[in-house]
Amino acid sequence: MARIISIANQKGGVGKTTTAINLGASLAAAEKTVLIIDLDPQANATSGLGVDPDDNEYSSYDVLIGECDTKTAVVTSELDFLDVLPAHRDLAGAEVELVQAEDRAVRLKRALDGFENKYDFIIIDCPPSLGMLTLNALCAADAVIVPLQCEYYALEGLTRLLETIGMLRNDLNSNLVIDGIVLTMYDKRNNLSRQVEKEVRENFDGHVFKTIIPRNVKLSESPSFGKPAILYDVRSPGSQQYLKFAQEYLAIQ
Ligand SMILES: Nc1ncnc2c1ncn2[C@@H]1O[C@H](COP(=O)(O)OP(=O)(O)OP(=O)(O)O)[C@@H](O)[C@H]1O
Ligand SMILES: [Mg+2]
Repeated sequence: MARIISIANQKGGVGKTTTAINLGASLAAAEKTVLIIDLDPQANATSGLGVDPDDNEYSSYDVLIGECDTKTAVVTSELDFLDVLPAHRDLAGAEVELVQAEDRAVRLKRALDGFENKYDFIIIDCPPSLGMLTLNALCAADAVIVPLQCEYYALEGLTRLLETIGMLRNDLNSNLVIDGIVLTMYDKRNNLSRQVEKEVRENFDGHVFKTIIPRNVKLSESPSFGKPAILYDVRSPGSQQYLKFAQEYLAIQ
């Protein structure tokens, strides 16, 4: 059975997509079969994995509105063990189009029914909001990983995210667990990064991954080449820490 993981934080630009791509690629490098679902109309995970968002017959939008099944919309990536369910900017309309549907929050969950045994891990890249798309991701997921940028206001919004997850656990998805918080864009020369780390570890004791993702230019360059960092520069600190993060993650399974 696949473990379905949502990478969520309604704060923008905290490293959700970078984590989805590079955790996914690192698990694939460990010969785990991985599907990355791009559930963000920005389609950054799609293009970052070398798939042109305008080049696919079907996308996550079609899957959500019931236009096609998941299998039909999945495409392969440059990595053997890694597939992608691409996003298209049409997905922005799904929020509105699904508003009337009674089953609007469980569309993705339904679409993944019977699909779970095809992969070891299904990783969902969420948009920066707590709207219908993120709700679908959290309803479909077994677990959440929360990337947290080591900057001012890092903790802003975290309480609301945790409340939302708590609500879902009482209602639509009683199985949902928080696997943990992963600190991203860490700069060891910067006092602020160390302060944020200390604060987060104090407040969320036991729920913060040991592995820290450094601020690293290779991580920000690789998407423009349509590659995960390990295919762009495997020796870079960014690649190495995501590989380490995947090992830490596998060890807790
Ligand atoms: N560890 C890192 N080091 C350097 N740059 C990074 C790192 N992580 C992410 N970035 C860069 O920061 C920006 C935001 O990262 P990313 O797109 O992963 O965040 P996001 O949470 O998915 O954003 P959004 O909320 O818009 O979806 C991107 O330009 C990305 O390349
Ligand atoms: Mg993103």
